[in-house]
Amino acid sequence: MNNVLNFDSVSGILSCQAGCVLENLSLYLEDRDYIMPLDLGAKGSCHIGGNVATNAGGLRLLRYGSLRGTVLGLEVVLADGRVLDCLATLRKDNTGYDLKQLFIGSEGTLGVITAVTILCPRKPKAVNVAFLGCESFEQLLQTFQLCRGMLGEILSAFEFLDKECMRLLNTHLKLANPITDCPFYIVIETSGSNPTHDEEKLHQFLEEAMTSSQVIDGTVATDEAKIKALWSLRERVTEALTHDGFTYKYDISLPVERIYQLVTDMREHLGDRAKSVVGYGHVGDGNLHLNITSPTKDPDLLASIEPFVYEWTARFQGSISAEHGLGLKKRNYIYYSKASLAVALMGNIKIMLDPKGILNPYKTLPDDLQ
Ligand code: LAC
Ligand code: ZN
Repeated sequence: MNNVLNFDSVSGILSCQAGCVLENLSLYLEDRDYIMPLDLGAKGSCHIGGNVATNAGGLRLLRYGSLRGTVLGLEVVLADGRVLDCLATLRKDNTGYDLKQLFIGSEGTLGVITAVTILCPRKPKAVNVAFLGCESFEQLLQTFQLCRGMLGEILSAFEFLDKECMRLLNTHLKLANPITDCPFYIVIETSGSNPTHDEEKLHQFLEEAMTSSQVIDGTVATDEAKIKALWSLRERVTEALTHDGFTYKYDISLPVERIYQLVTDMREHLGDRAKSVVGYGHVGDGNLHLNITSPTKDPDLLASIEPFVYEWTARFQGSISAEHGLGLKKRNYIYYSKASLAVALMGNIKIMLDPKGILNPYKTLPDDLQ
């Protein structure tokens, strides 16, 4: 199940089997001057079928949008064994309901994805990465606004990590901070078609950010090795956390100006009961990863975190699972983010497509609909 089925080098539409590893697809496309529209830390091991089934977001969503937009077609095996052929290669197709959307992000509970067609962007001719430090989250948000205004169409990622993440990267992975110690760090990536034009834009932006004191310190990379090193400071935060202890993970969507307030409130709420409380994630998508560690699994700590985190999120109309899905652990909290009628309709769809409940049971839907 790991074969490329077809690649159209005019349209950039790739058809492949579900077992293809994301990084292998990226390498296949790079040889043909294209890239995958999604990129994530787990690229070396994750499969495209799983990426689509979970509607994985990743580091480039800001630029290329979610898989709900870039996936053009799917082949899916249904619970009764029939094969649903929706493997279209068309950008536009309004013939009835868009059934593939049901399977994107359904975590394998409605069918098993066996093949995917996906629209791929051209490989950018110039990529630059800047790693910057800010004194406050407020300044980080101002930098985000400035960046969107000044970099416009070449901005391809705007990610952040806090100083607690940096401490874990230093301690557990021996990764050094390339700039002055700051409370917040930003990774900005630009991708464009004209190296001179892109560098000029980036330097104007950096100059403005530094002179207006939104940014304290920073470094820029244009060569591949340094770009990789700067990205690893963001991509390897989850790995650093696994070395810190048992990790409680939350993946929250909020209005972007709220995202760090949840980390601050959680720190205050837990006091010294947690080992580390860290915040990182996709600022450009309004998506926070709030992770909390303790030396070992600690039911009392968990009881202090939940439902506090979900109530906090619901208060600001956020999502309790921005990109990772509800899976087994979060499914019973679905009502914090979805109206009961919406959940009831999900139950109807599940019964229609999987009446015997054999597809990834006990996932995604709450107990009352299993
Ligand atoms: C990330 C994973 C945790 O953004 O979604 O690093
Ligand atoms: Zn993420």
